[in-house]
Amino acid sequence: MATRSCSCVFLLVLVAFQSTMMKANIIIPSFQCRPVLASTRENFEFAVNLHIYKAQLFMLSSIGRGINDISPGLVEGPAPIGATVANLDNRTRNFVEESGLASIGHIRAIADMTVLKTPFPMPQLDLRAQVFAKFFDVINVTLKPPFNVYANTNSFLFAAVYASYFLEQLYAGIIPSIIGNRERELAAEIALYEGASYGVIRSLLNDRANLTVPPYTATVGNVTNLTAQVGNQLGGCGVKDEGLIVPLSLGAENRTTTNVIPADDNSLPYKRSALEILRILFISGNATRPGGVFPRGVEGTLYQLFLALKQS
Ligand SMILES: *[C@@H]1O[C@H](CO)[C@@H](O)[C@H](O)[C@H]1NC(C)=O
Ligand SMILES: *[C@@H]1O[C@H](CO)[C@@H](O)[C@H](O)[C@H]1NC(C)=O
Ligand SMILES: *[C@@H]1O[C@H](CO)[C@@H](O)[C@H](O)[C@H]1NC(C)=O
Ligand SMILES: *[C@@H]1O[C@H](CO)[C@@H](O)[C@H](O)[C@H]1NC(C)=O
Ligand SMILES: *[C@@H]1O[C@H](CO)[C@@H](O)[C@H](O)[C@H]1NC(C)=O
Ligand SMILES: *[C@@H]1O[C@H](CO)[C@@H](O)[C@H](O)[C@H]1NC(C)=O
Ligand SMILES: *[C@@H]1O[C@H](CO)[C@@H](O)[C@H](O)[C@H]1NC(C)=O
Repeated sequence: MATRSCSCVFLLVLVAFQSTMMKANIIIPSFQCRPVLASTRENFEFAVNLHIYKAQLFMLSSIGRGINDISPGLVEGPAPIGATVANLDNRTRNFVEESGLASIGHIRAIADMTVLKTPFPMPQLDLRAQVFAKFFDVINVTLKPPFNVYANTNSFLFAAVYASYFLEQLYAGIIPSIIGNRERELAAEIALYEGASYGVIRSLLNDRANLTVPPYTATVGNVTNLTAQVGNQLGGCGVKDEGLIVPLSLGAENRTTTNVIPADDNSLPYKRSALEILRILFISGNATRPGGVFPRGVEGTLYQLFLALKQS
């Protein structure tokens, strides 16, 4: 009897989880999940938006200085709205600063490699706490008081982990279509760096899995499940975000429920296209309806193409 009631609970959780997956697949037709056709230049130009987002978020929240304070002339555009120094423990602050500085190097490496001209135009960024809080509205979770990403380390890690994850996922998807040996090498090098950075932040989250996210009673493990649900729903292309503790069917080789590093059936990284990433960062589920952290959309010809072709 005990076994039966146990498996029923498990089944219920699984059904709830799978129904979100299926809903995501029904809303967005499958062609919206194919890799985006783009030139090498367009791909790097798009990636620069994500590098700028990560560099500004990490630098401004760790030491209160942005890209222009560190490397003048590399980027040009409106100052980010609402960035503030986060209340981080030293270990986290040091890593966030380090990884933010690295992103500035990556932007410079792209400028040196490609024919793209600096200063790169900077998209308007909206880094206010209330923007990050909106992600929870997507799954109708009301947090009181509203989620403040800058309030403490446990809260900030949720924003930090995605900045690296999107870069890793984007590069994993575009590497095969990058033309030129040196260009492909650069894309692979950046992907390796961001994969490592993502792993560090997931590991910091995993260490805290059973700790609460102040001021709530929910644990870091619980909130990781919620943010994964948000990412999967907005992205609209199935499960590409996972919690820290998962059903066996999502664990490596179906043999483990620990899940520090989410990955597919063969434990290879999930890929996300530019469209999928914009759907999430715009918080609209629509790559041509800007909002969220990019209230005026992003820079570059690929985004202009999406607008012209009304790709959502
Ligand atoms: C954190 O770093 C600050 C500034 O470097 C230092 O004053 C403080 O003692 C450090 N705190 C801990 C707990 O190490
Ligand atoms: C959230 O609420 C809206 C409006 O009631 C509903 O349409 C939507 O399906 C809900 N989303 C989830 C994930 O429950
Ligand atoms: C969290 O709690 C679970 C269940 O008690 C335990 O198995 C796991 O090791 C804990 N995780 C951490 C990182 O402490
Ligand atoms: C996260 O969700 C999975 C189901 O997908 C569940 O098995 C797990 O217990 C949840 N973890 C936490 C910490 O809420
Ligand atoms: C939150 O996570 C804890 C383990 O850390 C788990 O026992 C609990 O069921 C989870 N709550 C929800 C609502 O998922
Ligand atoms: C794990 O289970 C899934 C179904 O849940 C299946 O598609 C996959 O092939 C299994 N993987 C392994 C390595 O057994
Ligand atoms: C996406 O947003 C654009 C611009 O607001 C709109 O024209 C289009 O209909 C939306 N697509 C979907 C599928 O909602």
